[in-house]
Amino acid sequence: MLLPDSAHGTNPASATLCGYKSVQIPSNSEGLIDTDKLEAIMDEETAAIMLTNPNTLGMFEKDILRITEIVHSKGGLVYCDGANLNAVMGIVKMGEMGIDVLHINLHKTFSTPHGGGGPGAGPVCIKNILEPYLPKPVVEKKGHNYFLNYDRPKSVGKLKVFNGNFGMLLRAYLYIRTLGPEGILEAAQSAVLNANYIRAKLKDTFHLPFKGASLHECVFNDKGQGITTMDFAKELIDHGFHPPTVYFPLIVKGALMIEPTESESKETLDMFIESMKSIAKKGHDDPDSFHDAPRLPKVSRPDEARAARQPVLRWKK
Ligand SMILES: Cc1ncc(COP(=O)(O)O)c(C=O)c1O
Repeated sequence: MLLPDSAHGTNPASATLCGYKSVQIPSNSEGLIDTDKLEAIMDEETAAIMLTNPNTLGMFEKDILRITEIVHSKGGLVYCDGANLNAVMGIVKMGEMGIDVLHINLHKTFSTPHGGGGPGAGPVCIKNILEPYLPKPVVEKKGHNYFLNYDRPKSVGKLKVFNGNFGMLLRAYLYIRTLGPEGILEAAQSAVLNANYIRAKLKDTFHLPFKGASLHECVFNDKGQGITTMDFAKELIDHGFHPPTVYFPLIVKGALMIEPTESESKETLDMFIESMKSIAKKGHDDPDSFHDAPRLPKVSRPDEARAARQPVLRWKK
């Protein structure tokens, strides 16, 4: 399974869980998939490429048609992680870009709660060529009646949790029906506008490692700052903001990935921009004052590695 070096860790993890060997494709100087390197690596032994478009830098893989052509020409499939659908829904048809499989992260795009490993749920969209392999049973219609068809000789079999997290699917469906085609398009356009507004307002204060156009998120880093990315994240909590994603994507050292989404007002974006600028100034003037940030929450700087490896999930006296 080929994966760009900008991929989210869940991508190689998923490939590994399914028994594939992950092979990294380096990004070029623009932060995009290097098509020459892809061409050199791709062969008949390769099952697929797993990518996301726009990628984790928020940049559109403008060579996507070339990429999908290279993979298809050697008999591979193209899997798209739909985490960044916010930028392109209602604008781009993923199938026409050559994508064969696409999962939709409902909690990123269609309003369902994220939850710590919690109620995630998402449809997986496929091209017709993969239809015979769908998990069984599939719902089919005969006359006026629906029925469950188990007679699927090529099916990958039954899924453990067949109906998925039904409440989440229903909630996302209602959200989509409520917004309608115009609302969905407007959500994507607002997500892109909001991210580009922040990018334009902060680009003189923060270093942008990749300068090309970005869509629904922009990735700065802490180069030239008096404090680290983690200090920014912690101090922002005291300013009342949920911090942006930090230290991801891995191809950007000290990354600060800002993804405001469509739902923030201009007033909130302006307050966030002001906070970022004032923290940057304080970071140069008094870098030592950040060690105990955040000061307002009860838990300030937990040991994140320990919290992940030895989670305490029950209250014990
Ligand atoms: C491209 C991409 N894929 C996957 C994920 C992981 O998504 P989740 O939060 O559902 O684990 C992210 C998270 O931001 C992402 O950016």
